[in-house]
Amino acid sequence: MGTKGHIKICPSILAGDFGKIYDEAKRIEDSGADRLHVDVMDGHFVPNLTIGPQVVAAINRGTNMFLDVHLMMYNAFDYVERFVEAGADRITFHFESTEDVEDTLSFIRKCNVEAGLAFCPETSETFVPKYLNKCDMILLMTVHPGFGGQKFMPEVLDKIRFVRDALTKLDIRQGGVTADKNNPATLKLPPFPIQVDGGINRETAKECLLAGATEFVAGTYLMGAKDMASEIAFLKSL
Ligand code: DX5
Ligand code: ZN
Repeated sequence: MGTKGHIKICPSILAGDFGKIYDEAKRIEDSGADRLHVDVMDGHFVPNLTIGPQVVAAINRGTNMFLDVHLMMYNAFDYVERFVEAGADRITFHFESTEDVEDTLSFIRKCNVEAGLAFCPETSETFVPKYLNKCDMILLMTVHPGFGGQKFMPEVLDKIRFVRDALTKLDIRQGGVTADKNNPATLKLPPFPIQVDGGINRETAKECLLAGATEFVAGTYLMGAKDMASEIAFLKSL
């Protein structure tokens, strides 16, 4: 379907057993996942409280994986360096929690890690295009951030299509499809990822993929699977 090979699977360790965090990190690594997703929640921006830089550092000691750190917190800017030191390879923060979105994106990039920008389901997708040239990934939440195990919100599918079309209009390469086939310059750009997070399983992943998503975060579905490796292989074959 053209996007094959560009799909990235990101199990969320939030749905793992925190009593054996090294083993869980290793289990994710051994399953063939592309990134390890870490959900950081501050008890303010979202009601839940999860983990901080120290635990990210512990996960980093347990694995060589790309750490995809999803900050659901206020004052993300003030914590960027701590998460970078802890081993983050990408830091994603929320549009809704941050006044200085552009400053925060450029600061994250200055720290030599990728910068992701996340949008809640109720936020208008029309805010997204302005940032496409200033970040390395867009995360479209498919549940309200805060907890694992929630039900996928199908209304986000239209937002995914909107962002995919915006990428094409802006001539930014997405999902392995070159916006302008006659312009070799666009071939030099890596695929621009659209990530989805929340309620992802076999069925909802397929719907998101068809709409244009390329990165799939899954907690309950993958961490709870009998055989995570075969579920990841299934997602990659979609
Ligand atoms: C939700 C988190 C998600 C969560 C996904 O606020 O951002 O990453 O761990 O969990 P599932 O896949 O169970 O919806
Ligand atoms: Zn997340």
